[in-house]
Amino acid sequence: MLTVEGLTTDYGAVRAVDGVSVQVGEGTITAVLGANGAGKTTLLRTISGLVRPRAGRVSLDGDELTRLPVEEIVRCGVAHVPEGGGVISELTVEENLRVAAVWRRGQAARPDEIYDLFPRLRERRTQPASRLSGGERQMLSIGRALVARPRILLLDEPSLGLAPLLVAQIMGFIRRFADSLGIGVLLVEQNARSALSVANRGVVLNLGRVVADQEPHQLAADERLRHAYLGF
Ligand SMILES: Nc1ncnc2c1ncn2[C@@H]1O[C@H](COP(=O)(O)OP(=O)(O)O)[C@@H](O)[C@H]1O
Ligand SMILES: [Mg+2]
Repeated sequence: MLTVEGLTTDYGAVRAVDGVSVQVGEGTITAVLGANGAGKTTLLRTISGLVRPRAGRVSLDGDELTRLPVEEIVRCGVAHVPEGGGVISELTVEENLRVAAVWRRGQAARPDEIYDLFPRLRERRTQPASRLSGGERQMLSIGRALVARPRILLLDEPSLGLAPLLVAQIMGFIRRFADSLGIGVLLVEQNARSALSVANRGVVLNLGRVVADQEPHQLAADERLRHAYLGF
């Protein structure tokens, strides 16, 4: 479905992403793991068109996205939730969801559909987003992206700063909506163990390069890889 081939992105003299290939199928989760500075965020920013690659290609069901304007890439069904999310603190939970729906008009998901995925947000619907806990904020960030009914969701470290119990809960939600909505998820995480617990595939980056691309259970069983790159 989403196919990334040989993607290479530079910031001036720094090669942040170096010949990376990854795939995300319908309803599947591909985890992209690696230490700080490995190139994970740059990979997502390149896929969503925020930075331009030096080489390589990105395609969705065979249609090339690589050099399309950002809004065209969004229209093709690729949604990006950046690190720290993108909620509007001054608006309530429900207003955040309604604002995200504006440009999709009739095709957007209704708040109730998002609340069915994240019941906690239904309880908090009239609260300003500034009052949400870290976990609720993350749910709202993802909920806002799901309003547009994307086919591919790019998630940048959704577990960052959350307590272990909440991390497990967020990972469970991601697994559930990938299954129920058929969305393909590219899940960038430093928290490798949690991401692998829900992923269908695990890709490990180091200094911009893919050093492993395997089934989650294979990665978790590889002690050398785990110690060198995954931190568990
Ligand atoms: N805007 C930028 N300008 C210059 N270098 C950057 C910029 N953003 C990231 N980098 C560098 O690119 C490399 C990859 O960074 P990044 O994609 O943020 O990795 P990760 O998300 O895995 O921590 C790092 O060496 C980082 O210092
Ligand atoms: Mg990052």
